[in-house]
Amino acid sequence: MKALILAGGKGTRLRPITHTSAKQLVPIANKPVLFYGLESIAESGIKEIAVIVGDTRQEIMSAVGDGSKWGVKVAYIEQEAPLGLAHAVKISEDFIAGDKFVMYLGDNLIKEGITSIVSEFEKNKPNAQILLARVKNPQQFGVAELQGGKVVKLQEKPKKPKSDLALVGVYLFDKNIFKAVNGIKPSARGELEITDAIQYLIDNGYTVHPHVVQGWWKDTGKLEDMLEANCIVLDTKEKDIKGSVDGDSTIEGKVIIEKGASIVKSSVRGPAIIGRNVKITNSYIGPYSSIYHDTVIENSEIEHSIILENSNIKDIKRIEDSLIGQNVTIIKTQKKPAAYRIMVGDSSKVEII
Ligand code: TTP
Repeated sequence: MKALILAGGKGTRLRPITHTSAKQLVPIANKPVLFYGLESIAESGIKEIAVIVGDTRQEIMSAVGDGSKWGVKVAYIEQEAPLGLAHAVKISEDFIAGDKFVMYLGDNLIKEGITSIVSEFEKNKPNAQILLARVKNPQQFGVAELQGGKVVKLQEKPKKPKSDLALVGVYLFDKNIFKAVNGIKPSARGELEITDAIQYLIDNGYTVHPHVVQGWWKDTGKLEDMLEANCIVLDTKEKDIKGSVDGDSTIEGKVIIEKGASIVKSSVRGPAIIGRNVKITNSYIGPYSSIYHDTVIENSEIEHSIILENSNIKDIKRIEDSLIGQNVTIIKTQKKPAAYRIMVGDSSKVEII
């Protein structure tokens, strides 16, 4: 078995973060989303992985390297444009070289990992196996219709869904998927769709097995989901204090404070994680916050948010439900006249009291 991890794409739903960085590298509980997928794949025993990269190739390549950190061999396949999930499969034919493989969307998190899913696929030998999860709003997903333990139809965002089983971003295929990706045409949005490729398999008599995911899964492609994934993962962590906490500070609940971080005259209420060399002074960090490396927070309150590296937040009454990028400064102005002075990237959203 081999694996393909898709880490290209447009990332339009996570702009402006994705104007400058890869969404797959946004940290969830201070670990890039992509690394969770890599870990699951490595754990399942797969050793050969190709990562599909687009505009953010440099950043992805320097974060993942040759895969030795996970005990696997990582190759990179450049996709000239985000032409669809099935297009990513199409350009990987030489790498896959007739083997079976897992396709893993680089912005997805699956609690149960993929080890048992890979064994199930190897044991039952269907031509494809897709992961499904029960959702409340199937209209917003690719939805599968099952009959007799097999998948008989896939529909993209159906108005009248035939089931509540949505496609999760992990797929297993044998070599027949290449006939499918070469046999379909781009959809109305100009992409080669993986749902069309799987439907091609079904229509041409190949077997597609479902695997209904029992634990949580999350596609972190938009802000609310990213924040929710952060909550879910933080909830699974245990208290671990490696940084320094002064006598005037209080730490409550499951709080991780990484090496070199310092908490001074502040209160941190878990679940929360404070990254390497972060400095928190005279502040409150509330539940479900992840503060990434080298960020400085002074005289401020933050809750239910993800703050990326090397940012600076000073004298801000309260920040909630936010995703703040790298090297961002948010300060209370000392200048006169007092006014909002803002430089934000394209497609940003700022809510002000
Ligand atoms: P999506 O989240 O479906 O697409 P996107 O990244 O373009 O985002 P948006 O819809 O917000 O514009 O992609 C799922 C994963 O697959 C993600 O990690 C990006 C990756 N991908 C590719 O590598 N190549 C592609 O052609 C596409 C469409 C996605």
